[in-house]
Amino acid sequence: MSENRYQLWGGCFEEEASQDLRHLNDSLAVDSRLFREDIHGSRAWAQELNKSNHLSDDHYNAIIEGLNKVEIDIERDLNAHGCLLDKEEDIHSVVERRLQEYAGDAALHLHTARSRNDQSATDTKLWMLSSLKNMKKELLQLISVVTSRAEDEINVIAPGYTHLQRAQPIRWSHFMLSYAWLLKDDVSRLNEQARRLSTCPLGSGALAGCALPIDRERLAHSLGFNDITPNSMYAVGSRDYIVEFLNWAALCSVHLSRLAEDLIIYSTQEFGFVQLSDKFSTGSSLMPQKRNPDGLELVRGAAGMLLGDSFSFSCTLKGLPSTYNKDLQVDKEITFRSYDRLMHCVKVMNGTIRTMTVNQDKAIGLLDSSMLATDLAHALVRRGVPFRKAHHIVGSVLKRAAALGVDLQHMPHKEYIAICPEFGSQEELEKVFSWESSVEQYKSAGGTSRDAVGNQLQLLQKWLQDEHC
Ligand code: ARG
Repeated sequence: MSENRYQLWGGCFEEEASQDLRHLNDSLAVDSRLFREDIHGSRAWAQELNKSNHLSDDHYNAIIEGLNKVEIDIERDLNAHGCLLDKEEDIHSVVERRLQEYAGDAALHLHTARSRNDQSATDTKLWMLSSLKNMKKELLQLISVVTSRAEDEINVIAPGYTHLQRAQPIRWSHFMLSYAWLLKDDVSRLNEQARRLSTCPLGSGALAGCALPIDRERLAHSLGFNDITPNSMYAVGSRDYIVEFLNWAALCSVHLSRLAEDLIIYSTQEFGFVQLSDKFSTGSSLMPQKRNPDGLELVRGAAGMLLGDSFSFSCTLKGLPSTYNKDLQVDKEITFRSYDRLMHCVKVMNGTIRTMTVNQDKAIGLLDSSMLATDLAHALVRRGVPFRKAHHIVGSVLKRAAALGVDLQHMPHKEYIAICPEFGSQEELEKVFSWESSVEQYKSAGGTSRDAVGNQLQLLQKWLQDEHC
């Protein structure tokens, strides 16, 4: 063992590891973030050793007192320096070395029948269990903001697009809620993976299990897990919970990136019916007039990074021989990075939506009567014309209007009748040209009418209430 570096291995080594290997191998800069989980896991492990008569009461008490102090010390050091300056390779070695300073030789009993393989998987899972809860909280807040804006702005009618071409008028709330539903699915998937994650690997040893009789279920429950991992080789070798999280984060970021893109487009001068607040816009160093949607662009761009991370970790796993291999150590770096990135995105999206303004007049100004062509066809259908025919008739109407250089609303009634008498009286025809009555036609469930949107709001609000408690 090196004089100034406490190492958990090396008894049979003649030489120290090279500096180059250390640089690649050391993980303290990353896994120090798990110090609380590591100490929490060690407390539970010491307790289980004690309860199953493998650790004396004196040693147990010394270990617990020592761990409490080590936790305070590490927290203090992290606050002071932003990282740990200890020379050890990882957080497990740091905790054990520091524990010796308080608990003396009692500390040498803590790692009995434990391996860093089951220890680090346990630490990561503990971290994920609480972090997924925080992520869920942020997502629920975002969905609440989207939902309450949708409720407040239910009167706003805006252009709806397919292929980014003007399609049909919609309620702005209907558009907003389309994202609330996507995010709700993300929360359901998050709940599912949190349930699957809740199995405790501790007691799996390096790969073969625990040679001492311990009660793994009691240990798992004392750490807040629902269950134990059922196979020690699976426990130390699987990182499917990381893959699941990374894939989940990538999909969630894809949803955020699409919302970001919509809002970026709607806030351009060309569309201009959304204005981002100063708090969530940036300026240009050269062009004084600029208001740039950098936050939304970063959210959009982050999806690329998150997709990359999920792909890269699956590549790391592919073809690995079973159980633990050091390749797996990268799991934490990639998980923390993806988690932090997504968390920032959710917060920025929340703030952007909370503070942006939606301009009804500008939104209405973007509508043109060609967006009611479908409604003209539906008016004919109501008078018995088969839809396919009605579609073609309205196509001819559009052609005629273009030839006359007028829009649909201003083409004379007699021109309509000349194409198809089923267009009815002038009064009946004029009724089609109302944005409000256009959106109100879509009353069936999931549509853009006031009631159908109100129904969505109710479903989402009820779900939010259930999720919050
Ligand atoms: N730092 C390692 C990791 O996070 C801990 C496990 C080390 N195990 C080993 N056999 N070297 O994966």
